[in-house]
Amino acid sequence: MKKYSVVLAAGQGTRMKSSLYKVLHQVCGKSMVEHVVDHLSTLDIEKTVTIVGHGADAVRNVLGERSHYALQEKQLGTGHAVMQAESILGGCVGTTIVICGDTPLITPETLETLIKKHKELNAKATILTAIAPDPTGYGRIIRNAEGTVNKIVEHKDCNEAEILIKEINTGTFCFDNELLFEALKNVTNENSQGEYYLTDVIELLRKQGEIVAAYCSPYFEETLGINDRIALAQAEKSMQRRINEKHMKNGVTIIDPSNTYIHVGVTIGKDTAVYPGCVITGNTAIGEECTIGPNSEIHECRIGNKTDIKHSAIYESEIGDEVNVGPFAHIRPNSKLSNKVKIGNFVEVKKSSIDCNSKVNHLSYIGDAKIGSDVNVGCGTITVNYDGKNKHVTTIEDNSFIGCNSNLVAPVTVGKGAYVAAGSTITKDVPSEALAVARAQQVIKENYAKKMNHRK
Ligand code: UD1
Ligand code: CA
Repeated sequence: MKKYSVVLAAGQGTRMKSSLYKVLHQVCGKSMVEHVVDHLSTLDIEKTVTIVGHGADAVRNVLGERSHYALQEKQLGTGHAVMQAESILGGCVGTTIVICGDTPLITPETLETLIKKHKELNAKATILTAIAPDPTGYGRIIRNAEGTVNKIVEHKDCNEAEILIKEINTGTFCFDNELLFEALKNVTNENSQGEYYLTDVIELLRKQGEIVAAYCSPYFEETLGINDRIALAQAEKSMQRRINEKHMKNGVTIIDPSNTYIHVGVTIGKDTAVYPGCVITGNTAIGEECTIGPNSEIHECRIGNKTDIKHSAIYESEIGDEVNVGPFAHIRPNSKLSNKVKIGNFVEVKKSSIDCNSKVNHLSYIGDAKIGSDVNVGCGTITVNYDGKNKHVTTIEDNSFIGCNSNLVAPVTVGKGAYVAAGSTITKDVPSEALAVARAQQVIKENYAKKMNHRK
């Protein structure tokens, strides 16, 4: 039996109070609608159609070729939304999974179970339901005395008895594709919101005598529909827990999972320990046996093995094996720290490469620099890379030694094995093996203190 899917993503998301369309809000670094489409992509689905409306282009940009699209020009309800897929799916024989773009936590496993139940029961429609501790806002599942599903009633249309029901519609269904589009034609908008509800298809199919089933998921948490920022934060927490548990199962130590924020795209090798207060985002890849944190932000980086990062911010950079960064370092985009490099406290590195074994241990600014291997950059060294108009490169070759509190005015090169005396302002290239001293000579005035004594 072929499978198809329809993702509802045309709504504005009024309750988010946002200029960003609802389904594009991110949960752990990935938009809600991408989570949904990525889950579907694991299910061997023939065609996925995303219904777009508000922010159609933005949604298309995010999903690209992962989906087909149908435009819903006016948001007249979820039933009307699914109708828009008819031009693509009408006449297809098979099972269609309908899912809302605002339920990013539903796992592929739950979807698989739903599809399995749908097949086993030979149903024409199967609803994914859950028991909600607080069902406010959700459609309620109305069952008859035998327990079979009769219909779904939206929260706003519930009577006094219905509103007490805790079994809710998660917004995810399996349908017989042909019956779905046929039934949708009979859905009306005679309800409190004046919308064409997808949920009305259930009662229509029941009345036709078709088998309608429900699979009640034991995981309500997964089925959370995100309509406002409060639910968005809840979803972030749930997804976070899931991501952290995945890493821990893979052999990563996370000291305090409730205080560790790792986005979906991140990979971490075994025996790496992540300390509290870390935010690791983008497609960051961290190797094995590293110590990360506490309190570090790492975005879009590649980090090797046995590297140690403390209290630091690192963005879009590449870091090798056995590197030490921090505490309190800032590594800005396009930097490359090779193996065994040491970056100490209050050091900023920007768009620079630093080769093996080199050290920048304290209070330095390294910008637009190429630093070789085994270089020692003394405390307080500054690459003067900006002349007010352009940025220039500082080159420091292998084995050289930069004395404390030096200014290297770029463009400038310090040759291999050269020395720069502490306190120098270097404006001309330093040949290899040479010593450059570029500071005022020290002057001694003997007995100066005595002369000053008259002031007492
Ligand atoms: C919907 C269900 C409700 C269920 C809940 C689960 C209906 C009528 N109600 O309610 O039973 O408990 O989801 O989270 O189906 N959308 C469109 N076009 C439209 C309207 C909505 O594409 O015209 C999309 C939205 O972008 C959203 C999804 O459909 O992704 C659900 O719409 P929403 O307004 O959030 O429905 P709920 O009120 O949450
Ligand atoms: Ca919703």
